[in-house]
Amino acid sequence: MDPRLNIIDKRLAGIKRIIAVSGGKGGIGKSLTASVLALTLSRLGFRVGLLDLDLSAPSTHVILGTEGLYPEEEKGLVPPVIHSIEFMSIVYFTGDNPVPLRGIDVSNAMLELIAVTRWGSLDFLIVDMPPGIGDATMDVIRWMKRAEFLVMATASKVALETVKKLIKMLRVLNVPIIGVIENMKRGDSRLVTEGLKEFDVPFLAVIPFDEKIEDSIGDVNNLLKSDFAAKMKEIVTTYF
Ligand SMILES: Nc1ncnc2c1ncn2[C@@H]1O[C@H](COP(=O)(O)OP(=O)(O)O)[C@@H](O)[C@H]1O
Ligand SMILES: [Mg+2]
Repeated sequence: MDPRLNIIDKRLAGIKRIIAVSGGKGGIGKSLTASVLALTLSRLGFRVGLLDLDLSAPSTHVILGTEGLYPEEEKGLVPPVIHSIEFMSIVYFTGDNPVPLRGIDVSNAMLELIAVTRWGSLDFLIVDMPPGIGDATMDVIRWMKRAEFLVMATASKVALETVKKLIKMLRVLNVPIIGVIENMKRGDSRLVTEGLKEFDVPFLAVIPFDEKIEDSIGDVNNLLKSDFAAKMKEIVTTYF
């Protein structure tokens, strides 16, 4: 028995809700959503943590601009606080290096991070999930038993197939789904709403494609002024 498995529940005990931002494919806005969701909740007065578990493409440190801040070792790792958010990322283990880890090594890196991180008492821990619906996602579901999923989708036939698989898997495993957000919407495609009808999951919102968002990456004040953030605030105040 891996002793790290025993400590996880204790590490997460002071957290009220764990929100996993997932969606299968890469490039659909999981990291931007996780980051802006964390910022929005924090600005509304909640105590928030953000955990980046995307081993192959960690991004939230770039979106929030966390340069120069590092966890501190103290009977575990204490996350640095950035813009009032307790922030921990797999990037603190990997740096800028590509991570040629496979199978069990990926599991091990994520397990290590979850087992060593000492969160304060939090209202929300937002988890930027690895893409895909394979081992890494299954691991998180096993380890973070209270995780509720926010499912990101885009109007792409290819991406939607993975979203459907993810929803099916979450249903089989009895994992709560907060709902689906359709991101990067251009035009009036009904692909996502039609395609997900059969699952009867709450459809939370459409976030339009925001031409200007790229200029705000790494700049939290501008990020919070974006249309993307305005939409996120609507979602949070309605559904969280
Ligand atoms: N609604 C949107 N409008 C415009 N660009 C977006 C939107 N959502 C995300 N992006 C951009 O798309 C890229 C991929 O988003 P990201 O959050 O990294 O996706 P993922 O984490 O799913 O791989 C980023 O450059 C991000 O800024
Ligand atoms: Mg990402």
